[in-house]
Amino acid sequence: MIYARIAGTGSCLPGAPVTNDDLVARGIDTSDEWITTRTGIRARHFAADGQSASDLAEIAARRAIEAAGMQAEDVDLIIVATSTPDYIFPSTAALLQSRLGIRNESPAFDVQAVCSGFVYALTVAEKFIRSGSHKRALVVGAEVFSRILDWQDRTTCVLFGDGAGAIMLEASETPGILSTALHADGSHHPILCVPGTVASGKVLGDPFLRMDGQAVFKFAVRVLGDVAQEVLASAASDVGEVDWLIPHQANIRIIHSTAKRLGLPLERVVSTVDAHGNTSAASIPLALDVAIRDGRIQRGQRLVLEGVGGGFTWGAALVQY
Ligand code: ACO
Repeated sequence: MIYARIAGTGSCLPGAPVTNDDLVARGIDTSDEWITTRTGIRARHFAADGQSASDLAEIAARRAIEAAGMQAEDVDLIIVATSTPDYIFPSTAALLQSRLGIRNESPAFDVQAVCSGFVYALTVAEKFIRSGSHKRALVVGAEVFSRILDWQDRTTCVLFGDGAGAIMLEASETPGILSTALHADGSHHPILCVPGTVASGKVLGDPFLRMDGQAVFKFAVRVLGDVAQEVLASAASDVGEVDWLIPHQANIRIIHSTAKRLGLPLERVVSTVDAHGNTSAASIPLALDVAIRDGRIQRGQRLVLEGVGGGFTWGAALVQY
């Protein structure tokens, strides 16, 4: 039996933390009290002008490759999850391959499932590895959501941050990813979207993120509880065997409600939303890397990674680390 096993992780947060009070000082009509009470967010990071998703992805990827004890040329598949790519095309994954100096002509492509993007990319990579066609996959979530925020809309601009997280997956006889589940229901696309595009040299429609926060909140709590149960059931496992839940980091109240629905104590939930804000596809690998490097997550432990985002899309993976 071939498993896809996590060999190493890495992450990147650009610049210094920007606190809630810093946002107030920049003229946004909000307060530290409002943001922390409703979301749990205390700070986030923003990319510098000119710093792109591939810049952040490269740093996170190099750290993951090093943590795995590999060389860039060992990578035989790259999948980048992003909704804020450098270009319309080529993909951020192709740019990343070039920047890492990989010349082995192995496949590289992006996956776009917004905040579920990392779980989608991980699931695709796992299927490549399990099929035997590829052995060392670099899976990255990288976002610069600061580029698509409307700074006049305080209901959204305080929620998001920029960053990247990466993992090296390798083919192994030691168990790694045990089960995965992906879902989408496109009928909910209006509640979270960037409803614009570029054509004939102009922006058509609205280039900024728009969200019905309360509708998103209710949807997220329901599907995150259900999809975690689904991956546990399909691996004949249960919540009692989960050492760590690493959910998409959108909002501490969504995270707490999900843990409660699952009957999982908060001590077994990794949360970085206070320091990172919502970094969309980067949030899960960022949180994973933080908890591995600070020693909370140990080899052999069972993890549930799960995400939900625009589309709507959602998914989870049960992983033996
Ligand atoms: N600062 C101060 N006041 C604000 C702010 C702000 N940043 N934003 C909104 N308000 C005000 C509103 O104007 C409103 O004032 P009013 O009552 O005078 O009209 C009041 O706060 C309440 O606004 P609501 O939108 O009803 O606030 P709510 O309690 O729903 O909280 C929030 C908003 C935090 C967005 C919440 O709906 C939520 O957490 N939703 C989940 C959305 C989420 O996490 N999305 C992330 C992207 S999706 C994903 O990653 C899965």
